[in-house]
Amino acid sequence: MIDKLVTRRDSVTLEDLEYLLSTEKYDEIIFEKADEIREKYVGKEVHLRAIIEFSNICTKSCLYCGLRAENKKLKRYRMSPEEIIKRAELIAEKGIKTIVLQSGEDPYYTTEIIEYLIKEIKKFDVAITLSIGERKFEEYRIWKTAGADRYLMRHETACPELYNKLHPDDSFENRKKHLFELKKIGYETGAGSMVGLPGQGPRELAMDILFTRELDADMVGIGPFIPNPDTPLKNEKGGDLNTTLKVIALTRLLLPTANIPATTAMGSIHPFGRQKALKCGANVIMPNLTPNPYRPNYTLYPGKICLFEADTACVECVKGMIKGLSRNVGKSYGFRVKLTNV
Ligand code: 5AD
Ligand code: SF4
Ligand code: FES
Repeated sequence: MIDKLVTRRDSVTLEDLEYLLSTEKYDEIIFEKADEIREKYVGKEVHLRAIIEFSNICTKSCLYCGLRAENKKLKRYRMSPEEIIKRAELIAEKGIKTIVLQSGEDPYYTTEIIEYLIKEIKKFDVAITLSIGERKFEEYRIWKTAGADRYLMRHETACPELYNKLHPDDSFENRKKHLFELKKIGYETGAGSMVGLPGQGPRELAMDILFTRELDADMVGIGPFIPNPDTPLKNEKGGDLNTTLKVIALTRLLLPTANIPATTAMGSIHPFGRQKALKCGANVIMPNLTPNPYRPNYTLYPGKICLFEADTACVECVKGMIKGLSRNVGKSYGFRVKLTNV
């Protein structure tokens, strides 16, 4: 089975993955192979993606998320276009080559405002990743033309029944259409999921991994589900470190050239969660560059790290982490590498 994962990854089935996810017997070898495949295909570089969480206002009601519209406990904010552009300039001055613009699904930022942000920020010679949720297909096209490079939109869970339960205002079928459209338009497209959602077992996790292969996702963000006390899922159990590491490792094995972040949620459930992810297949890290006073209010889940740090402290922190693992800080835009050695 391990040999199949490494040498015949396209023939790995749902049943194979389900089996590997239901036993801990092969975990060490899976982690080791994922680290080897990461080294072979994407090398020692860890790419930095600076994230600006520019609005925590959201019209949606995802059952797991602290930004859901129904959560009245959260102090809401919107950064002005000028504030966002100023932050992007500061990030570019620090030599970071990707800026991720993330927000809740906030219609305040019209087609034109986002287009303006892209055009202004592109002047700083950076790659731009949008992570602002589902919008009109026409908007995706306009923003691509304006210079946006990538679009992140996790599929959250590839089990349609579970997706529909967790998203009262969306369907898996629709989310899938959006992701395939983003690919078609030419974005480097990021999917990804949470691990440990209620009702999710080895089979559902296997479905997540196969979905990213079906999409040929350029990026895959994977993190544990962390129950938020201000949401309907407050009494559920969260995801565990080992299972999440295994989903990351198996994703690396099936998508050897994908860019896979060591997510903030990993660092939030374990002090070395991100380092462990980087040793199990991950090759990207996303330092938080949301300015204060806004940063503590982007509370997707409790225990989120990096909240009370100085505005730009995460940059040096993640660089130190990368060096500590004897890896190199990426200096390029960090686009997905082309598959050469099959
Ligand atoms: N625990 C972990 N991750 C969460 N997200 C939202 N809420 C939670 C939570 N409670 C993730 C979703 C979303 C991303 C921005 O944050 O996967 O896509
Ligand atoms: Fe809004 Fe995204 Fe949170 Fe859903 S996951 S409530 S769309 S911010
Ligand atoms: Fe944010 Fe370490 S990455 S403080």
